[in-house]
Amino acid sequence: MTSNASLLFVNAAQVVTCAGPPRARRGTEMGDAAVRTGCSVLVRGDTIVAVGPEAELRGSHPAAQEIDCGGGVLTPGFVDSHTHALFGRPRFDEQELRASGMDYMEIARRGGGIHASVRDLRQRDEESLVDLAVARLRRLASYGVTTVEVKSGYGLTLDDELKSLRAIARLARELPLRIVPTFLGAHEIPLEHRDTAGGREEYIGRLVGEMIPRVSELQLARFADVFCETGVYTVPESRRILESARTHGLLLKLHADELTSAGGAELAGELGAVSADHLAAISEKGIAALATAPTVATLLPGTMLFLGKPSRAPARSLIAAGVPVALATDFNPGTSPTPNFTLILTLGVSQLGMSVAETMIAGTVNGAAALALADRVGQLAPGFSADLALFDVSDVRELPYWYGDRRCLGTWVRGKSCHPRHLRVS
Ligand code: NIG
Ligand code: FE
Repeated sequence: MTSNASLLFVNAAQVVTCAGPPRARRGTEMGDAAVRTGCSVLVRGDTIVAVGPEAELRGSHPAAQEIDCGGGVLTPGFVDSHTHALFGRPRFDEQELRASGMDYMEIARRGGGIHASVRDLRQRDEESLVDLAVARLRRLASYGVTTVEVKSGYGLTLDDELKSLRAIARLARELPLRIVPTFLGAHEIPLEHRDTAGGREEYIGRLVGEMIPRVSELQLARFADVFCETGVYTVPESRRILESARTHGLLLKLHADELTSAGGAELAGELGAVSADHLAAISEKGIAALATAPTVATLLPGTMLFLGKPSRAPARSLIAAGVPVALATDFNPGTSPTPNFTLILTLGVSQLGMSVAETMIAGTVNGAAALALADRVGQLAPGFSADLALFDVSDVRELPYWYGDRRCLGTWVRGKSCHPRHLRVS
């Protein structure tokens, strides 16, 4: 296909357009995913140019190459706006430890958890990290994801963080997925700094004095993120790191109130962060802070499921307060090793009390807003990037219903096949 060839997606039982304003959706706006029947999508090159009645578009574009959706459901490709998809060995050993009663943070205190992934990543070269991530990102794509945010954060030295971000840049060049890089040098206090006098202060000094300026100068990240949590980075430390990142032109994200109400959501609101993520322990004050901020609340219910914790992010209170809610996998080796985006939609409905339409907006438009991409990604509407996913269901409500199943038949990113139809991923 030449870059200006036209594709016409026909014969879909439903087209979930999510069409509407090109910004985060709040409150009742989240309840309308704009599901249409008898509808086709016309793509020219990398852009959607029309969405309308099938007979009309067929008549006016007889030369377009038709893609037969076979009675399936066509949606905007999912936007997975929070992952740690660049890592070395998996950490299945910790799952049994937790089952036997050792808490996630206790494992970290003993030098496991994120520290275990850091030890592993530091021994690998860029090549090995890319190879591992290619296979993992293909799995994410096979569930309908077309845009994915990937964080560094398992290096925690200048060289190892740059190695990670260079690997992410290579993935962005080599894979058809749209990849958004985030610098998470503040994922933990590295052990060599945690266990020495003044070491903690020294590492934060390196983050703001050396690592953030270098990452910014090399243009290796669009966002900076901090794990703001009791026992990891405090609110004042997170503020210092994020203010420095902002000064260097990076957009802001925060791991906020994941396990304890430490004031992370309040800080995200104060800084006007693009997103505050996790929020399973957000306080009333935190909800109020986000309600008056531009910040998207990115909820990651797979994490609480996998950690075996009963806490849930208060999606209903957040939506009622007018906070835009996104859903993401948090794909990572410690707390959420699932590439299954539609399972996250299931958890959105069954665990967080969201409607199917709300989960669809959360996985598309609001995910795009959490990556500052809502003006071009997340909708099937004219002018938007031709990022689409086709599913083997005839009603969108089946997507979260057949939970754990992979119903995605294919995806397209910028008008090009990304996850090929009927590709079997073993
Ligand atoms: O989002 N909470 C911090 N970071 C990840 C977990 C990373 C890990 O355990 O490797 C998260 O849950
Ligand atoms: Fe995370």
